[in-house]
Amino acid sequence: MLTGRRILLIIGGGIAAFKSLDLIRRLRERGAAVTPVLTPAGAEFVTPLSASALAGTKVYRDLFDLTDEAEMGHIELSRSADLVVVAPATADLMAKMAAGLANDLASTLLLATDKAVLAAPAMNVRMWEHAATQRNVATLRGDGILFVGPDEGDMACGEYGPGRMAEPLAIVAAIEAALAAGPLAGRRVIVTSGPTHEPIDPVRYIANRSSGAQGSAIAGALAALGAEVVFVTGPASAPMPAGVQIVAVETAREMQAAVASALPADAAVFAAAVADWRMAAASDHKIKKDGTGSLPVLEFAENPDILAGVSQMAEGRPVLVVGFAAETDDVIANATAKRKRKGCDWILANDVSPVTGIMGGSENAVTLISESGAETWPRMSKAEVATRLAARIAEALA
Ligand code: C5P
Repeated sequence: MLTGRRILLIIGGGIAAFKSLDLIRRLRERGAAVTPVLTPAGAEFVTPLSASALAGTKVYRDLFDLTDEAEMGHIELSRSADLVVVAPATADLMAKMAAGLANDLASTLLLATDKAVLAAPAMNVRMWEHAATQRNVATLRGDGILFVGPDEGDMACGEYGPGRMAEPLAIVAAIEAALAAGPLAGRRVIVTSGPTHEPIDPVRYIANRSSGAQGSAIAGALAALGAEVVFVTGPASAPMPAGVQIVAVETAREMQAAVASALPADAAVFAAAVADWRMAAASDHKIKKDGTGSLPVLEFAENPDILAGVSQMAEGRPVLVVGFAAETDDVIANATAKRKRKGCDWILANDVSPVTGIMGGSENAVTLISESGAETWPRMSKAEVATRLAARIAEALA
């Protein structure tokens, strides 16, 4: 619930602005007070009257509106909220934010505020992927701006890809997480989860039995403590966590790229069961039986080790890097050696021999291995493991 929480909602100029009207409604249903600010371009997409009617309050539009200054100056307006939300955050607005411009009401409020800012980007896929926008996003992340979305999908302009504004309920969840005064508020954490699928040909792939349950639970537990979580997930069967930014991938190499573009982060938890190998060259065509009884020979190539790569980053390494070690024998000895080899800070080791029923099950029995030794936790649900790990991460980052 958001009872009594005050949201300053800056509505930029994009077709997604219509969703911001629904966002106002959803926030008010949860007890929040919403003060809308419409940029001149935003006012081309939604009318001040609809924003004002839904918010049940005045809509602010112009920096030089003296009445507003008499009532409430822009500095005061920018600080009277608990959270500033920019939705849609257009490429132009983000560029202004990254450059520190203050040449209209929205940019001035964003520069003057002393509160957390959450941006929900929305733009054409090419604009989102443009080096300038990605540079601005990286700058803003470095400045502590929180992000929700963008989602991938069909766009109003007819193209397909990342750039759609997150749905109102996802923005609400991100707002709730940002306002949760948890110990991880203002911290950014990347969590990888699920299996990866490595194509053999267009219809076949190599996979593993990971359900993604532990990774989902960890991402949810971190978000519940107020962290901004980027959840990079392979094709998992477990339900997706709430209040996190979801980046869906298929292969190890896609997962590696998604992690790279989610950095920088304060911590990273690598819970994915990444395939160690992929096809050296996946076939473009379905491999067929030729009737002679000859068998196809599959040639493998090694996948990148995402955990080791991030652990050994020379610059910009997360303060805390956590890996998992699913072992069937000599769990602690193997996992201790693995921690050293990979260069991560902690390893959560678990015994996945079939007798334990852990792989795909709802419980886990883990040992936390760090520089100071091995600490075995009692067998507990994956949700409890997640809560305990999230609390330990919060302690380590405090
Ligand atoms: O080497 P192994 O697969 O046992 O290591 C497990 C840990 O390394 C897990 O945290 C897993 O998410 C991570 N990993 C990775 N990229 C790989 C292989 C494993 O991030 N290619």
